[in-house]
Amino acid sequence: MDFTALITDWYHTNKRALPWRETRDPYLIWVSEIILQQTRVNQGLDYYLRFVKTFPDVKSLANADEQDVLSIWKGLGYYSRARNMHTAAKIVMESMNGVFPSAYKQLITLKGIGKYTAAAIASICSGEKQAVVDGNVIRVFSRVFGYREPADSTQLYNKIRLKSTALMELQNIDSGTYNQAVMEFGALWCKPKNPLCDLCIFREECFAFKNSMTEMLPTPKADVKRRKRWLNYLVVIQNDSFLMQKRSTGDIWAGLWEFPCFEAGKLFSVDEMATEFEIRFGSSIFPKLIAYEKDFRHLLTHREIHARFFICKISDNKHIPAYEPAEFIPFNSLNALPVSRLVEGFIQKSGLIPGH
Ligand code: ADE
Repeated sequence: MDFTALITDWYHTNKRALPWRETRDPYLIWVSEIILQQTRVNQGLDYYLRFVKTFPDVKSLANADEQDVLSIWKGLGYYSRARNMHTAAKIVMESMNGVFPSAYKQLITLKGIGKYTAAAIASICSGEKQAVVDGNVIRVFSRVFGYREPADSTQLYNKIRLKSTALMELQNIDSGTYNQAVMEFGALWCKPKNPLCDLCIFREECFAFKNSMTEMLPTPKADVKRRKRWLNYLVVIQNDSFLMQKRSTGDIWAGLWEFPCFEAGKLFSVDEMATEFEIRFGSSIFPKLIAYEKDFRHLLTHREIHARFFICKISDNKHIPAYEPAEFIPFNSLNALPVSRLVEGFIQKSGLIPGH
């Protein structure tokens, strides 16, 4: 089977037209690859367009305010990606003469660029024969070649990287096109559920298809154990503004804005929230405190977050002593502020801000 020829032919006919496929500028490819790491193409496209419009080159990104970079990322989650990009852009300006690299060896030294991203940029932008291995590639190789190791194992990763590199070297193909072809094939045809086996170009040879194992491969990774956390949020509303705080470093959501958050070993009752607020802010909010009817469960890679939101509308003249740094943020300034997807989801579902 001529795997590389079949899959690159397939790609030329079936690929989606996407703006980052019209360029070999390593800065733009980098932006697209970082966005696409944990995000589907459909959702990532708008973010990509907004990002490159605001920061069209590495210099504009390096010179930007961190808050502005995070704001563009709002709703995408995993904000460390944006923070790392900002850091990497500054390093490119300071130590690489402002030229975004396209060689694997240089790319891999930059913050937030791992083997996957370095291989993607190097192959697409400078034709280096570096194989990319992401979830799509793992699925295609596991099924077509019958690899049985668990999807998240180092053994499988190394096996696929070697095989894919060997395939690339066998023929004089453009490695960027080939890498993208495998990823695109995994995304569009060799899908996790309901793959298009009836149409498939590998129908005759595919190990999984021949052995009726398509649903079983790749071998699932062991279940991740997520540590549980309980967050109680107090949504204080005064005069069309929310009382908000910036989350400090060293934890999830560092640098993002949120309502005063009380982490505990459980979700609070209304009375418990009132007591905790009084302890922390030295001000009573008890009379108008109500809990939002629905609790939230939010999954991060290693965390299972349970959140309860308490809402408290206070009169215009009530003063909250600033024992803790917190600011009233007008509803109409919220769009510019980076917040977690959990907080954003609450604001939308609660209907507290009409039209948000
Ligand atoms: N997923 C992430 N990057 C991709 C790319 N360059 N082509 C296809 N799918 C991708």
